[in-house]
Amino acid sequence: MSNPTPIADLLVRDSDSLATAVSRLDASPLGLLFATDAEGRLAGRLTAADIDAALARGMNLSMRVGAVMVPDAGGQPAGLEPAELGRRANGSGAVVALVDGERRPVGFHSPAVVRRVPIAEPKLGGNELKYVTECVETNWISSQGSFVRRFEAEFAKLLGVPHALAVSNGTVALHLALAAYGIGPGDEVIVPDLTFAATINAVIYTGATPVIVDVAPDTWNMDPDSVAAAITPRTKAIMPVHLYGQPADMGPLLAMAKRRGLVVVEDAAEAVGAAWQGTPCGAIGDCGTFSFFSNKLITTGEGGMVVFKDDAIAARARRLRDHGMNPSKRYWHDEVGFNYRLTNLQAAIGCAQLEQIDSFLKRKLEIAAFYESRLSRLAEIETPRILPDVKNSYWVFSIIADTAALGIERDQLIARLSAAGIDTRPLFYCMHEMPPYRGYAGNREFPVSARLSAGGLSLPSSTSITDAELDYVAGTLERIVRARRLARSTAS
Ligand SMILES: Cc1ncc(COP(=O)(O)O)c(C=O)c1O
Repeated sequence: MSNPTPIADLLVRDSDSLATAVSRLDASPLGLLFATDAEGRLAGRLTAADIDAALARGMNLSMRVGAVMVPDAGGQPAGLEPAELGRRANGSGAVVALVDGERRPVGFHSPAVVRRVPIAEPKLGGNELKYVTECVETNWISSQGSFVRRFEAEFAKLLGVPHALAVSNGTVALHLALAAYGIGPGDEVIVPDLTFAATINAVIYTGATPVIVDVAPDTWNMDPDSVAAAITPRTKAIMPVHLYGQPADMGPLLAMAKRRGLVVVEDAAEAVGAAWQGTPCGAIGDCGTFSFFSNKLITTGEGGMVVFKDDAIAARARRLRDHGMNPSKRYWHDEVGFNYRLTNLQAAIGCAQLEQIDSFLKRKLEIAAFYESRLSRLAEIETPRILPDVKNSYWVFSIIADTAALGIERDQLIARLSAAGIDTRPLFYCMHEMPPYRGYAGNREFPVSARLSAGGLSLPSSTSITDAELDYVAGTLERIVRARRLARSTAS
């Protein structure tokens, strides 16, 4: 347990002016202050909302904090157990001053004092240990065991596809998919500018040329018009990514692919549980890939899956996953393949995770609904659009901060939240900006991905997050934004 912010950073004197309080609030990582009296005793608390209300009532910044603060002569005694403090907070994310015997603030309690609020941690409370133990006890620890077959069969059923191949991670899932379609040197594959680098890397592994295109402002995913403009006679495949669980705009992409005979490989690494027009993401195009890294909706530690509709392509992928070996003639290699297999140990965890997927997904949707209800009220924060006929699985709830309106960079916002004990992560950097990929941008422009990437961050979205933590994250962000707004409006 640690408290990254010293209490001194949260204190103001009740005799200080509101002008002083405005700048101290703006520097407070929690966006709030505790006010003390002349003897240093807790006297009240203050946020930008209180000062806003006072200014609206006709007060001015030369007036004293004591006239505006919300009186708080209480606090909680220092030395109480965090669990007890949490109970007293009654499930809210309230920040409470801790006081000594003289009622002087010596610290504070918040949910982040109990633990830093993580971004997306795995939840392994089901049959994971039991199934892994079964692997060890039966000696089936490599890639031949029954859990691999069961994991594949259950995943295929979940997706409603005939073939699911478990692989060692989501990156090789992408590579295997492209390799199974014979994509290689001389071919072009269209990828979005805003994605995790694995998408573009997989294309480069094949020897094909990635063609980066901009994303759309409503989905944050591959923009169909930019794709249309980037298609050439060499284009072989399109790789839409369903970023953060929001489905890409698949209708026009499928139509284009059909017209031009292109393969659609969906990178659904972040979109287990998402759907577009009732079809699960990953099962919309020709083939879909998934990641089971530890922060994903379901995890196997490291792991992935690739799903196919076509029998022959699936059979080729199965061969390529196993060194290109002929399935009916051991150690006879028909082509150069890879070892991309998943172990039975990992698949055992995957089977246990699949048993819990409905509850995981339900919690993700609750988390998203909560953040949406709180944060969409802030003009400086853009939340994911709720689009017709799609189901966003909200893998990690992500927002775009209007950095111009806030007057701070996204990374400064991340640093403030971190000082408040809240882990976030930046949205991905644009592919076209990074040295290994710049050459694949051509003379295309990327205004949308550049804007989203510059202002974007993902908020804590673990299925294990408590309601108090959610309230604390939303409350802290709200207070920071309002403190910024107040500091900027009163400075001018
Ligand atoms: C969009 C996307 N594609 C591919 C991958 C690669 O998956 P893995 O980390 O399992 O290799 C990830 C992983 O986070 C991802 O977010």
